[in-house]
Amino acid sequence: MEKIIDENKQGEALTLEANAQNTKKLFIESYGCQMNFSDSEVVASILSKEGYNTTQNLEDADLVLVNTCSIREKAELTVRKRLEKYQAVKRKKNPRMKVGVLGCMAERLKSKFLEEEKIVDLVVGPDAYKDIPNLLSEVEEGRNAVNVILSKEETYGDISPVRLQSNGVTAFVSITRGCDNMCTFCVVPFTRGRERSRDPQSILEEVNDLAQKGYKEVTLLGQNVDSYLWYGGGLKKDFEKASEMQKATAVNFAQLMAMVAQAQPKMRVRFSTSNPQDMTLDVVETMANHKNICNYIHLPVQSGSDRILELMNRQHTRAEYMKLIDDIRRIIPDIAISQDIITGFPTETEKDHQDTLDLMNYAKYDYGFMFYYSERPGTMAARKMEDDIPLEVKKRRLAEVIALQHELSHYNTKRFVGKTVEVLIEKESKKSDQEWSGRTEQNTVAVFPKEDYNIGDYVMVTITECTTSTLRGKAVGYSTNN
Ligand code: SAH
Ligand code: F3S
Repeated sequence: MEKIIDENKQGEALTLEANAQNTKKLFIESYGCQMNFSDSEVVASILSKEGYNTTQNLEDADLVLVNTCSIREKAELTVRKRLEKYQAVKRKKNPRMKVGVLGCMAERLKSKFLEEEKIVDLVVGPDAYKDIPNLLSEVEEGRNAVNVILSKEETYGDISPVRLQSNGVTAFVSITRGCDNMCTFCVVPFTRGRERSRDPQSILEEVNDLAQKGYKEVTLLGQNVDSYLWYGGGLKKDFEKASEMQKATAVNFAQLMAMVAQAQPKMRVRFSTSNPQDMTLDVVETMANHKNICNYIHLPVQSGSDRILELMNRQHTRAEYMKLIDDIRRIIPDIAISQDIITGFPTETEKDHQDTLDLMNYAKYDYGFMFYYSERPGTMAARKMEDDIPLEVKKRRLAEVIALQHELSHYNTKRFVGKTVEVLIEKESKKSDQEWSGRTEQNTVAVFPKEDYNIGDYVMVTITECTTSTLRGKAVGYSTNN
């Protein structure tokens, strides 16, 4: 896995096993977060029942769907370039092709796409994917179709996602949708709506089905997984209005994770993302109590300055975050922790920036996803604060944060040298067809000679050397986990 997100990375065109009866061709690609990739699997499943098989060849497609991201301006620009590309193919090679926009840009830019620019036929927001068959009928009749209505209930719990471009070893399982946290910089609460949790029974069924198909690892996905709360459906914010019975039988995130870990003890369980203000120690204790829950937490901090954290509405202080890190390390000494950090938030001073670097040194993050602030229209920060940090300052601070993270990452990978660790083999190494690539429990990539091992095996690997992001070693046998 790339440790630092490359925003220019092309979205991946996704294909699935063909259904022989299907005659139409779908080209679907995804940008942005893991949730978007997971959503595309839901969309492919819905369209498979409508006669579509996926293709990797854009020029062949009857329908092109792009699952979009609005998180930063750059992400939107990347999608716009792709839309231009589809238009060119449509004009020159395939006039029958229909083009649709899915995901977070749908809500934000629906009228622009459909009316002003006339570049897409179909616009569908994250909660409206089940309506795609109806919307396509409208498109067939020559009308543009749009549904960006956000839902209080939709979790797609009843749809069995089609695994796209899968390695057959690791899979995402979404457990919540939307977010109620309202960080002032973030567009997600506007594009993905209010937070709701998926029925634990349907989550368990999906995990059991994956295990049966030979998958070895699941990542439970949500914008804010620690806030998971199932009480029979509905918005998280309406929980107070639930009946006594519903309250008594509610399932929280620690309980859900224990259920998943117990149901499939030979499967690795991961989760993302944990927001510090919602992460509780019962989650950490549940991790410690289940060997198959991986010792790795993605714990975005955004800034190390109390003043900036408050302006961001992160609802925790620097000291509270440091205490959380201490508690996690006390309960799970060999935990790996990663971060998200934003540089150049409005009013950020050099002192605030130093506080961020300082906190990074304290937390000794294993790796991170780092960005400079990008103002998003409609957010509280855009409405109330001036985007006053010059771009070159934002970028210089970002470079400093990235450089420090490289040092910390190297410090962390070096700790593994000389040790023997369990690695789950996922794929061939990109650099050599003689080597496997997999990940340790701590989510660090490890490569080693293939010998007689296979994809999906749990192998014990003695680490002999490392770079900032990758471990290299030699397998010494199967793990008892196989
Ligand atoms: N809770 C979500 C967060 C999604 S956004 C999750 O599942 O990870 C991912 C990261 O993008 C955030 O943690 C933040 O660091 C960054 N980000 C969000 N909005 C941003 C903005 N306006 N400018 C720069 N970075 C942003
Ligand atoms: Fe965004 Fe904050 Fe939610 S970063 S996704 S509003 S936790």
